[in-house]
Amino acid sequence: MKKALSVLGALLCASVAFAQPELTADNIDEVIKSMTLEEKATLLVGGAVTPEFDAVTLTGPVQGAAGNTRPIERFGIPMTYLADGPAGLRIKPTREGCSRTFYCTGFPVGTLLASSWDVELVQKVTSALGNEVLEYGADVLLAPGVNIHRNPLCGRNFEYFSEDPVLSGNVAAAYITGVQSNNVGTSIKHFAANNQETNRLEDDARVSVRALREIYLKNFEIAVRKARPWTVMSSYNSLNGEYTQQSEDLLTKVLRQDWGFEGMVMTDWGCKEGTVKSVNAGNDLMEPGNRTETERIVAAVRDGRITEETLDRNVRNVLRYIVRTPSFRGYRFSNNPDLKAHALVAREAAAQSIVLLRNEDSTLPLKGDEKIALYGISSIDFVAGGTGSGEVNKAYVVNMAEGMQNAGFSIDPDLPDYYRAHIRYDAASRKIIGKEPRDWRFPEIPVPADAIRLQAGKNDAAVVVIGRNAGEGSDRNVADDFELTVTERELLNNVSNLFHQAGKKVIVVLNVGGVIETASWKHLADAILLPWSPGQEGANAVGDILAGRVNPSGKLPMTFPVTFFDHLSSFNFPHEYVRDLRRVGNEPLKDVDYTDYAEGIWVGYRHFDKHGVEVSYPFGFGLSYTSFDYSKPVVKAGKDGFTASVTVTNTGRVAGREGVQLYVPAPEGGLEKPEKELKAFGKTALLKPGESQTLSFTVSAYELASFNEGANRWETAKGAYTVGFASSSACIRCKGTFRQTAPQCRAVSDAFVK
Ligand code: GLC
Repeated sequence: MKKALSVLGALLCASVAFAQPELTADNIDEVIKSMTLEEKATLLVGGAVTPEFDAVTLTGPVQGAAGNTRPIERFGIPMTYLADGPAGLRIKPTREGCSRTFYCTGFPVGTLLASSWDVELVQKVTSALGNEVLEYGADVLLAPGVNIHRNPLCGRNFEYFSEDPVLSGNVAAAYITGVQSNNVGTSIKHFAANNQETNRLEDDARVSVRALREIYLKNFEIAVRKARPWTVMSSYNSLNGEYTQQSEDLLTKVLRQDWGFEGMVMTDWGCKEGTVKSVNAGNDLMEPGNRTETERIVAAVRDGRITEETLDRNVRNVLRYIVRTPSFRGYRFSNNPDLKAHALVAREAAAQSIVLLRNEDSTLPLKGDEKIALYGISSIDFVAGGTGSGEVNKAYVVNMAEGMQNAGFSIDPDLPDYYRAHIRYDAASRKIIGKEPRDWRFPEIPVPADAIRLQAGKNDAAVVVIGRNAGEGSDRNVADDFELTVTERELLNNVSNLFHQAGKKVIVVLNVGGVIETASWKHLADAILLPWSPGQEGANAVGDILAGRVNPSGKLPMTFPVTFFDHLSSFNFPHEYVRDLRRVGNEPLKDVDYTDYAEGIWVGYRHFDKHGVEVSYPFGFGLSYTSFDYSKPVVKAGKDGFTASVTVTNTGRVAGREGVQLYVPAPEGGLEKPEKELKAFGKTALLKPGESQTLSFTVSAYELASFNEGANRWETAKGAYTVGFASSSACIRCKGTFRQTAPQCRAVSDAFVK
């Protein structure tokens, strides 16, 4: 008997061993067949609150990663690592018991990358960024963040790209392509309609289907179709009454059926009640992962609320992701990416993206050796990037005093000393009362007018740095944030009056994470430069531009309105005057518990153009040290849509690059449409004086379509279209026409159709 049992045992082991395939890219279904229910459930939930993950974050190979997928050793399934963030890899810079550091490069924030209007540049930056993801051992970068700039006060706008879906979507596609060129993944986020931080876990975004399709989903669609991100991150919020992570309309009908997405969907970082609904909706992975979620999935499969087929569908998406990862390939990462080379990439990218908003009487460029009075506490407390999961642990940040000195200027030492002393005093005064050092921006401090008068005499010009920061988890304010503070306004007035009295120029540098008010004070400055939050090397790039070593070629990816309430969305946005109101009983709070996107498609320049609202600086605007001529365009109807080309010539005295925008108004009749919409864009190479370059674009009939909500389809109207080549949305330089001979329609799923 004993002998028979031992033979049986051996046979059983052999059969289990035989039935236990080692995962490869070609045997995923076989592995799924061999997995137990518990193993499948394990794979659909991250391990961030399990001992093995704690081990990873505390002692493992990728400390500081945001989350992971869990290993199943008997199939050779490794743990994979998911790490933030859009402006650079976010991991712990130091490790217990380890003398070396693990800094990452702080690249320019998303808004500055988009200001380049240069998809090749974006791809170059994110190729370097993706190399740090690979060489520090992560598998997915939780980026790009692409939510539309619906309103200037969204706290995370710095991570995002634009008010326009075509600019945003194409920059996102380039971003994804660059990162994934390293054979690591991305996670385009936050899908979808996550356009505010206030109550972000619960806010219900109420968006018309047309505004969804044409604006808030369109940039995701462009990026998914063009660049095929490995993963998509669903957002925290609700959309039209359903959490996005539980929305079959969004995650299966739109993302997979309409757009053909074949990757993996993960949640944002939180455990909601409706795990079962998420699994059924097509959300494959729950992050950061909570044991409860695994138990919910097992129970739901057992009682039929989740079918085996659905469970296996999601497991298959996770396994298809895993077999692509460096962790699965056993890639031996170096922990030693070339940070010096990447710092140069960051500096070059910032220099090619910074926007010159004002340059009266060619104030800029300066000669480069001037004596400069440098005002503003942000000249020392320089903002390289935003806060939250988008913050990068960088080795250094060059401040404005250093950046300008590096460019050859001599900085009046009294002011930096004054600001540094204040920062030290602030830190010391907080320390003695047991407070942490300020991890938020320092408010501006006054400079006595007598001091400014003295400095106006000793220096050749004044540079005033206005700083703003923002971040995840909270939205900005109108007062003292979108608008200048009293101290800032007083400083600007005094510097402007006293330096102009002395016959000296005044340059303002906007080191901001998002749009601020400019109309009321821009006349005080001779020049205004907008570097946004330009990364650890950004101040060097500012110095390069002020000294004329680089000719600025950035353009605005969103409008600078005259006042906050010129945006239609401002009447349905949680600014500080409504954000802290108390709920009355169980009444949901407007703009906090739900946000009504009542403005529909009238976002940004679409609104300002159509309704004739004056702006301070228009979408697509940016000055150069040179000038450009646009030839008569050549516009030809194609089989599908049209092709258009234009020749741009540098008519100035210095070399420069020109961002060219292609706008198309829709033909009369049919749906109410914007005056014009951006349909394509490009950027010339560096053109010497007199040099020309021809840029050509192809626009499909589908790209011209508007969404007819009543018919639930895309419609391209028949008729004459006027194609405008522009240097900004407010400056069409030349026009051509083409005729769409027949109307075109494209059906979509019935997602969000009531
Ligand atoms: C955060 C953010 C998301 C980030 C994730 C992991 O809550 O919303 O952008 O990638 O958690 O840190």
